[in-house]
Amino acid sequence: MGPIEAPCRVTVIGLGYVGLPLAVAAAEAGFLVTGLDTDELRIKQLAAGDSYVEDIPAERLLGALDSGLTVSHDYADTKDFDVCVIAVPTPLRDGAPDLSYIESAASSVTPHLRPGATVVLESTSYPGTTEDVLLPILEHGSGLRAGRDFHLGYSPERIDPGNTQWRLENTPKVVSGVDEDSLGAIDSFYRRIVTRTVPVSSPRTAELTKLLENTFRQVNIALVNELAMCARPLGVDIWEAVGAAATKPFGFMPFLPGPGVGGHCLPVDPTYLAWQVRRQLSHDVRFISLANEINAHMPRHVAQRVATGLGRELTGAHVLLLGLAYKKNTGDVRESPAVEVARLLHEAGAHVRAVEPYATPAHLPPHVLCVDLTEEELRAADAVVVTTDHDVFDYALVERHARYVFDTRNRYRGEGVDRL
Ligand SMILES: NC(=O)c1ccc[n+]([C@@H]2O[C@H](COP(=O)([O-])OP(=O)(O)OC[C@H]3O[C@@H](n4cnc5c(N)ncnc54)[C@H](O)[C@@H]3O)[C@@H](O)[C@H]2O)c1
Repeated sequence: MGPIEAPCRVTVIGLGYVGLPLAVAAAEAGFLVTGLDTDELRIKQLAAGDSYVEDIPAERLLGALDSGLTVSHDYADTKDFDVCVIAVPTPLRDGAPDLSYIESAASSVTPHLRPGATVVLESTSYPGTTEDVLLPILEHGSGLRAGRDFHLGYSPERIDPGNTQWRLENTPKVVSGVDEDSLGAIDSFYRRIVTRTVPVSSPRTAELTKLLENTFRQVNIALVNELAMCARPLGVDIWEAVGAAATKPFGFMPFLPGPGVGGHCLPVDPTYLAWQVRRQLSHDVRFISLANEINAHMPRHVAQRVATGLGRELTGAHVLLLGLAYKKNTGDVRESPAVEVARLLHEAGAHVRAVEPYATPAHLPPHVLCVDLTEEELRAADAVVVTTDHDVFDYALVERHARYVFDTRNRYRGEGVDRL
């Protein structure tokens, strides 16, 4: 089995934040790509050149559709693939890893697995998923042996939605295989797409690498969030302290406080690691439990600070939230702490309105009325809370008309602001 060379047939399963950019980049690299997603609506949208992933503008999608990319919801269209990349969701269900999407994708693609082909898992999961969960499904369904008859490995995604500097193509990509041949095939495939690959010795190492990266962020954000809650009563501005510490040229890396963590990664991935360590070693990864606890508390802390800042009960107060997405300049509201802030304020009896220019209405919480950022809305609000510091917000308008502002992101520069 030789190295992967374009043109060859690539299937990408799961066309979300991770799979769509990969499918487009693979088509641009000269591969014949079938993008497969079970969501028929998404497939219709993509086929019409309509991208729902901000990092892939319509022109780029259309360019890929004009060259090597086709999209489908029918697994029959994946037949005779040379490389298959699986990028389906890995959520938590009742606090435990839910691998059903990987299992289902693997079962559906197995009838099309041929000798010499390569299968790569990109979905984030605990160490052992590729070899203990994916491999048996592929082998059992095809009668083939991983390593001997087909290549198999794991390559974690490092997509950072909205990051224009570090994109799929110029971010180093960790690659692994169940054996040397698999590693070689997977490495040569990604080298056609990204500028640098980082081969590691096993899928387990690659799986842990991804979880280490995300746990590192989750723990450091929790540390600075805890310090933010202590700094204000100590008479210190945490933002100023972080900024000053960041001038140290060695041994320090700045992390910023905020209303909590959101998205698919930080609230979910470290728990995959903690769950597997507990299951396999009966050991509690205390850093992960503590960081989860602190980050999950932040929306409640924000709601409490708003009440304190207003100097009154929240019942009947009019609160305008700026931003519901978990991250600035994106519309991703998955696990967003801003949504939790909205829920808590609503639960406390406040009338909550929110300005969220990026998210589609169907994905917004039902108890929050979404409005435009106008002078009237600002004047009507007892409190304006900067929950997501989107660049498009007119902060000067807020400064002119808001009575009280609570800023969780250190973005607002007006007078009389309260900061986290
Ligand atoms: N979003 C990120 O920034 C990010 C970063 C790194 C890693 N990841 C990881 O990558 C994986 C994918 O995440 P995402 O953000 O792209 O998810 P997503 O929800 O944006 O997209 C997943 C897609 O998979 C499709 N799908 C589900 N089951 C399927 C099946 N059986 N067959 C075909 N399609 C199916 C869904 O319809 C959806 O379109 C997850 O494991 C996640 O943890 C995500």
